Amino acid sequence: MKAKIRGNSKIEGEVSVGGAKNSALPVLASLTLISKEVLIEKIPDISDVAEMISMIRAAGVSVNFTKNKVTARVSNLNGEIKDLGSKIRASILLLGPLAVRTGRSRILYPGGCQIGERPIDIHLEGLRKLGIDIKEEGDFIEANFVKSPRNVKIEMRFPSVGATEHLMMTSVLLKGTTVEISNCAREPEVVDLGRFLISMGARISGIGTDRIRIDGVENLDSTIYSIIGDRIEAGTYMIGALSTGGTLKINGIGNEIDNVVNFLKKIGSKIEVLPNSLVIYPSNVKGFHFMTGPYPEFPTDLQPQMALLGFSSEGPSEIVERVFESRFKHVEELKKMGADISVDGNKINIKPSKLHGAMLVGNDLRETATITFAAAMADGPSEIDKFEIIFRGYENLLEKLKDMGIFAEIIQIDREVS
Ligand code: EPZ
Repeated sequence: MKAKIRGNSKIEGEVSVGGAKNSALPVLASLTLISKEVLIEKIPDISDVAEMISMIRAAGVSVNFTKNKVTARVSNLNGEIKDLGSKIRASILLLGPLAVRTGRSRILYPGGCQIGERPIDIHLEGLRKLGIDIKEEGDFIEANFVKSPRNVKIEMRFPSVGATEHLMMTSVLLKGTTVEISNCAREPEVVDLGRFLISMGARISGIGTDRIRIDGVENLDSTIYSIIGDRIEAGTYMIGALSTGGTLKINGIGNEIDNVVNFLKKIGSKIEVLPNSLVIYPSNVKGFHFMTGPYPEFPTDLQPQMALLGFSSEGPSEIVERVFESRFKHVEELKKMGADISVDGNKINIKPSKLHGAMLVGNDLRETATITFAAAMADGPSEIDKFEIIFRGYENLLEKLKDMGIFAEIIQIDREVS
């Protein structure tokens, strides 16, 4: 799919963010654990969510998804999901829960954005500690479960978001077992998943800290739950507005993004924080330096977008990416637009730059979002190939771009390869 983006735009107006993609995916995966009907609100209508819903339906969860609401019931679960899952990273989250529920699960190796090798060793090491036998066979991973030890202690070598979510979900139905996980991830989406599980009667303490304890229960209750707003979607729009000197109101975001707002304010951004929204005002941002890291450090998912703010800052900036080893694909694309940007190891050096339109290519989700907003602020039009990548994580994107004064049109739809 190819899109044409008109340049010379100021990103301004008013826009609402949807529910967080990185909450929705683990929450949907945890539906394989339910015994009664549940209702979840604010599930974003994006392609990664569609993929996860196809997977849990294949596992035997009946799902109705309309107007951002999911109602789900479990009929007869089966642990083997044959030809789905290799597109998204979150598919790995089904391995443990389905093994605990059915005794045996078998899924394809996870996919997801090509931003690094993205091993799953922390996931598998934790599952083994829970008494799950893991077999890796070609493209598939198989997990067999009989019973878990009475007490399990898991120390994660890195606060992996997915592994924290995976091990928490897998532990909640281990009746009679106490699991303590340390060096956990503390991202708001991990907390959101924990709150969802607790709302169904799971016994979890310490979510949001680096040490979580789970006491297994027999089964879970029904619940009505609404997930948090997408802080990465909000952050993408916020950085776009700051980079073009626009005034933008962003609705549907709470304090999950405070760490990013506080950093942006420190470097000169004028941002008004309201109970459920932010207002971004034209600002003179100084050059900046930050390193990405596990929450509450600066989120890696907003690292590519921050190059745009570097181009419109008053001095040079430096970004150090410490979470993924190759999250730099946006740099080559931005150079095509005349940007003064370079990568040295895991450090990105950026100088104030005037961008011009170019022929660009999407590679991963946040890089495609970055070059879309770069094209909006550039002098002259741009075309972006593989534009469909952005629909993985940005709901109703074309309408929202219009709400923000960005004119984007789809100029070519790839014919399905027969
Ligand atoms: C989640 O990915 C998010 N995805 C990512 O968002 C986000 O960038 C990442 O967390 C970090 O915040 C979802 O929630 C669906 P990790 P995840 O496990 O769980 C290494 C986006 O754009 N690692 O915290 O895969 C890994 O290679 C996406 O929305 C291991 O070595 O992230 C990486 O270097 C991109 N072994 C680091 O840890 C493991 O077993 C962080 O990975 C697991 C991870």
